[in-house]
Amino acid sequence: MRLFIDTAKLEDIEWGLKTGAMRGITTNPSLLAKEPKGNYLVHLGKIVELIKQHVPLENRKGFSLSVEVFSDEPDEILAQAREFVEKLQWPALAVKVHIDHRGRDNLVLINQLSRSGISVNCTACMTVYQAMTAAAAGARYVSLLWGRIRDGGIEEKFAKEREELIASGKLRKEDFDPAVAVKETRILLERFYPKSKIIAGSVRTPSDVKDASLAGAHIVTVQPKVLREMFGHFKTDEIVDQFFSDFKAWSN
Ligand code: E4P
Repeated sequence: MRLFIDTAKLEDIEWGLKTGAMRGITTNPSLLAKEPKGNYLVHLGKIVELIKQHVPLENRKGFSLSVEVFSDEPDEILAQAREFVEKLQWPALAVKVHIDHRGRDNLVLINQLSRSGISVNCTACMTVYQAMTAAAAGARYVSLLWGRIRDGGIEEKFAKEREELIASGKLRKEDFDPAVAVKETRILLERFYPKSKIIAGSVRTPSDVKDASLAGAHIVTVQPKVLREMFGHFKTDEIVDQFFSDFKAWSN
């Protein structure tokens, strides 16, 4: 399992890079929109500079950076993808393209971009079917959004949509369990599209990170808050307090 830090905040990215525990960075338009207003390419350029500054040369070539398009228009998506590649000049850049939006799929674009040599991270996937079609179209990564898949199984506002899908047999109840979605996608990818890798995004707790990894995600994205929660424990605090106080008492 490899961890990618999921943020556009430069201070958090710098910290994540300095830990040496990150193998990539993922961003999305909502994460960018949390940052001070400005030119997105300038901001993304600063992320690339941080990678160059903090990732050792031997790991840099494969250090993944996912940047997402912010349009639904095919021509704009292609233009944005090419602009990211040209302006950022990052060898392991992946362009995030959503699988579908209100009945308008991006499979043709995913195929076109992939065939032209641009790595695509197909994002906003909620089911094994979306992930498999994205992989079949050439996506290098398929992002299954763990927390949002789970939300889809319980949110009251989507009760009607959910019940209709289950009643029609298009989805099963267990398809709203992210562990099932990741596990089944992994089995099918290994068999049919081994070059495509699963990114588990929308991960909200340390146990989500563990469960996604055990379910078969190749990569798990972690927001800085979740990463920090993975380190802390009240018993760790207790024993470290004890080390310091015991040593102080002895040395005085
Ligand atoms: C990752 O690639 C996704 O963009 C991100 O994790 C979405 O997470 P959210 O559900 O917290 O918005």
